[in-house]
Amino acid sequence: MSTLAIHGGEPIRTKPFPEWPRPTSELKDAIISTLENEGWGVGSEAISRFDEKFAAFQDAKYCISTSSGTTALWVMLKAAGVKAGDEVIVPPYTFIATASAVLMANAVPVFVDIDENTFNLNPNLIEDAITEKTKAIMPVHIAGNPADMDAIVAIGNKHGIPILEDAAQAHGAEWKGKKVGALGLGGIFSFQTSKNMSAGEGGAIVSNDEAFYETCFSYHNCGRTKGGAFYEHSFLGGNFRLNAMATSMLMPQIYTVVNDMALRDKNRKTLDDAIGQIEGLTINSAYEGTTREANHIYLTRYNSEAFHGIPREQFFKAMQAEGVYTYMGYTPLYREKLFVTDYEEYPWLKGYDYGSIHMPVTERLADTEAVWLKQNHLLGEEQDIQDIIDAFEKVTTALKTSPELFKD
Ligand SMILES: Cc1ncc(COP(=O)(O)O)c(C=O)c1O
Repeated sequence: MSTLAIHGGEPIRTKPFPEWPRPTSELKDAIISTLENEGWGVGSEAISRFDEKFAAFQDAKYCISTSSGTTALWVMLKAAGVKAGDEVIVPPYTFIATASAVLMANAVPVFVDIDENTFNLNPNLIEDAITEKTKAIMPVHIAGNPADMDAIVAIGNKHGIPILEDAAQAHGAEWKGKKVGALGLGGIFSFQTSKNMSAGEGGAIVSNDEAFYETCFSYHNCGRTKGGAFYEHSFLGGNFRLNAMATSMLMPQIYTVVNDMALRDKNRKTLDDAIGQIEGLTINSAYEGTTREANHIYLTRYNSEAFHGIPREQFFKAMQAEGVYTYMGYTPLYREKLFVTDYEEYPWLKGYDYGSIHMPVTERLADTEAVWLKQNHLLGEEQDIQDIIDAFEKVTTALKTSPELFKD
């Protein structure tokens, strides 16, 4: 076994992984063309052209681009009729915006634990969390891996509760041959820097429901009614619109993301084939209805029992020294300070005690098992992926055969 880089050995990898986001000439040309020839903001055809194309790409009738995924979430919740004190079911293993947007809509996030095999909302636990206040269920397609949409939509239909998808990380992902986003009432995407389609910042809402779409339009556009006068405001909305330079640089990415997805698929498979052979690491699964994952981020699970009880953090340190950055990812959202609430500021949260929540699967994965690669790793060439595999193999072999090397 070659010496570990943390002990002065040769690191497996010294080169950087592929750059993301990519400032291609196509993107630069698109921005300059809009800058010189089109409206820059509200009413620009460069925005409506993108909305139309992105809707079609996600198999939806309608799309509204927004200033971010977070504002898209707020708009979607408001348009779904979520009101002060209503409850929205969300997973605790996601980016903060999934839950904070619920709070920002004056509603209450109700956490439901995740499924260890997919890192996604566990559909078997949803019904127990439904009350007469539940006004939406919001699965997240985490890391681009679709949630169990058949099961979740069936629960929504049974209880008359709309399903709102947080597809911020799942551009192009498919459930039974249909793209995610508009499988329920509506869904959102993010175009923030690290997403698989990026404008630095930005988001979108998609839906097949015309009335919902029109209400979203109002909330994201200062409460204006679609087709109404410019200074007529029927809803308490805001300016959550995306600008035309952003939509222009996203337009070519509707096509390039498809090539990137093919590369991500191939690299995911290569990694799964190799990492799946390492006892103590568990590769992530997909539900039966998944026909395409977006493979935004590669996730796997580390079982310290297979490595003499050596904690995951020691594995991370050794991997980092080998030049492959792996990390723990999310912490359980209910532990975040923002949930320690001031009931004067958020009176609708009276009676909810987030500090007392414990979700066993989320906590086990977040605290001890989850291993994330970075978004750009899956865009690597063959040698890049081989280096990742070599680092995993080198470090896990050392953990098994020379545990004394990992004493702090
Ligand atoms: C799952 C999830 N939901 C919501 C968001 C919010 O998107 P944004 O950062 O564009 O506001 C993100 C991304 O950051 C996300 O990963």
